[in-house]
Amino acid sequence: MFTTALAQRDNTQVGALPLDLFVAIETLKQELNAVILAHYYQEPDIQDIADFIGDSLQLAKAAANTNADVIVFAGVHFMAETAKILNPDKLVLLPDLDAGCSLADSCPPDEFAAFKAAHPDHLVVSYINCSAEIKAMSDIICTSSNAVKIVQQIPAEQPIIFAPDRNLGRYVMQQTGREMLLWQGSCIVHETFSEKKIVQLKITHPQAEVIAHPECEEPVLFHANYIGSTAALLKHCQQSSAQEFIVATEPGIIHQMQKAAPDKTFIPAPPTNNCNCNECPFMRLNTLEKLYLAMSNRTPEINMSEDTRLAASLPIQRMLEMSI
Ligand code: 13P
Ligand code: SF4
Repeated sequence: MFTTALAQRDNTQVGALPLDLFVAIETLKQELNAVILAHYYQEPDIQDIADFIGDSLQLAKAAANTNADVIVFAGVHFMAETAKILNPDKLVLLPDLDAGCSLADSCPPDEFAAFKAAHPDHLVVSYINCSAEIKAMSDIICTSSNAVKIVQQIPAEQPIIFAPDRNLGRYVMQQTGREMLLWQGSCIVHETFSEKKIVQLKITHPQAEVIAHPECEEPVLFHANYIGSTAALLKHCQQSSAQEFIVATEPGIIHQMQKAAPDKTFIPAPPTNNCNCNECPFMRLNTLEKLYLAMSNRTPEINMSEDTRLAASLPIQRMLEMSI
């Protein structure tokens, strides 16, 4: 795979990039004893060079179990931060430090601290899409693949705050029959899908299944034949007898769906506006060039205070124990 010899760079190395980035990244991987972990929403080239591709839970588990000295996290900031929380002695690199998350940003730590203080009897369950500071204020972390299972394990009489995603929170409430106090955060990508356009697609593709991530709004989930995390959606489209799928999540996952089921057709659910806003602008900040430069220059690195790290690691460990 050839790429441009010169590219925009935001860290220290200046000069031409190697012509074959795939070979150069493989070489650096050996030199650094590095592992590349990639989320399903990364661009196809990054998915193809990764050692491990997964959803948030699978990536957290992979980070917890790796023997590598360096973790190169091809995902967004909160994911790399989770890897660092679990691996304080390893170098954790994120190709672009600006790869944040609108959902994590919708829960500022000072405002959340006041919300939590106003409900002292509540247990705090936080979706992993949040900052280390929010994790440090939480009792248990969950992901979209284990949220229902985790809430079901909490005693029925225990009041719960669920943060930061109101859509996943509402979905978990419906699945478990539990009332929870929801923080009103959301993901700009999963709130962009148009119910009207999905219904129109269902009319023109009557045999297609709608598969959706629980971060979507209720009217979109209403039309879904199947709801699950990215990993669950990938598994479902392989197991289902359907030949066509309307995919209501970030379309990066379609790369793995096409690889896993090459004879099936995957139609990205359209956004409300005629834009590309169903692509996560944060995930897409990472590129193969930036991945190479991060490994070559060993920066940008993820770090945090040890107090925050220790406090944030407890609810993550609880999640890992509760989702075996
Ligand atoms: P999962 O990886 O848990 O499916 O979550 C999707 C997501 O939006 C990650 O930011
Ligand atoms: Fe955050 Fe949404 Fe992007 Fe996932 S898709 S990283 S929740 S902004």
